[in-house]
Amino acid sequence: MPYHIKDITLANAGRARIEWANLDMPVLASIRERFRSEHPFEGLRIAACLHVTTETANLMRTLVAGGADVVLCASNPLSTQDDTAAALLQHYGVRTYAIKGEDTETYYKHIDRAIDHKPHITMDDGADVVGRIHAERPEAIEDILGGTEETTTGVIRLSAMAKEGALRYPIIAVNDAKTKHFYDNRYGTGQSTLDGIVRATNRLLAGRTLVISGYGWCGRGIAMRAAGMGMQVIICEVDPFKALEAHMDGFRVMPAIHAARFCDIWVTVTGDLNVIGPDAFATMKDGAIICNSGHFNSEIDIPWLEENATDKHELKPLVKEYRLADGRKVILLAEGRLINLSAAEGHPAEVMDMSFANQALTAEYLALYSSQMAPGVYRVPDSIDENIARLKLQSLGVSIDKLTPEQEKYLNSWELGTV
Ligand code: ADE
Repeated sequence: MPYHIKDITLANAGRARIEWANLDMPVLASIRERFRSEHPFEGLRIAACLHVTTETANLMRTLVAGGADVVLCASNPLSTQDDTAAALLQHYGVRTYAIKGEDTETYYKHIDRAIDHKPHITMDDGADVVGRIHAERPEAIEDILGGTEETTTGVIRLSAMAKEGALRYPIIAVNDAKTKHFYDNRYGTGQSTLDGIVRATNRLLAGRTLVISGYGWCGRGIAMRAAGMGMQVIICEVDPFKALEAHMDGFRVMPAIHAARFCDIWVTVTGDLNVIGPDAFATMKDGAIICNSGHFNSEIDIPWLEENATDKHELKPLVKEYRLADGRKVILLAEGRLINLSAAEGHPAEVMDMSFANQALTAEYLALYSSQMAPGVYRVPDSIDENIARLKLQSLGVSIDKLTPEQEKYLNSWELGTV
């Protein structure tokens, strides 16, 4: 079967890590068991464009168990785990197109191979497959029932498409499920971003100043964990509510050009463009380390650095020093690509368990109900979200209270006030 991976001899090493991750993904494992007997995807082809990690591999196993014919390509050129890609191919029957460090041309070739699969369901992380299909491969739409989207950036792109009337099939925004963004974006990004920075730099975090651009769920998670490691945290925001929240959470809030003077380390998680640009570089502290944990590497104006640096060289893999005209140095990590997946291994399996349970169950929902769905961006049904939360609690051995009939009645009535 056609594929493109780095090295098939890594397959056994990949399988060992995939099975280890699976132990921390009990919700997904229980869905896989049900899929194995019910086969919700019998006769369906799925094209997934996700970070090729051990956690993603366990999602792919779940789709295959459900009877799907699955092709997987990378959703970022630097996030692929080559041993996982090999194992998917050799041990789990998933045609995989992903090589860590692939160039942009290869990245899009891989997406094209996934589209060649003539999917009934697309599964995106960043909306590159949907974007490619609508811009260059519209013939593929004929077969498509619907799609899912994993991340905030992708949902923003898809919502813009839907607003313009350009989106031609229904897509469920997995990112917006409570059991996704409250845990994956916050605790997952919080931990894995610091993990990536530490693995790339081995710098002490305690006592250093971390600037975070963006105080959405990802920014909040990073700030919370960085403060716990003894960092001084500065938040840059454009949204007055989020800025106020950051202030009341105890962080300093200021514009980027001021923050640049203090930053030892700077991480962007905004989903927007050129958040660290020439103005910030002009005042940036000498030796500052900058990185991105948002979906695309365009949050940092890397072309400006490339053009204006008087000297540049690699200090070690994934760490590049740029020398500016006045002699100051700026250290860029992982080419500005997601630091948590480029320099570390992404979010831990415990949180991906819920994110990917959402992926599996919304794909099943599309298989069942897409014929009743017009093109547009949809929320994950509350029943799926709540079911995942309950299954996760169960797997953690945590039990909770239940409303009494009296309490339930009270919450649904308005007559009873001050007593
Ligand atoms: N996004 C963030 N962390 C991830 C992981 N471990 N696997 C797949 N996608 C991710």
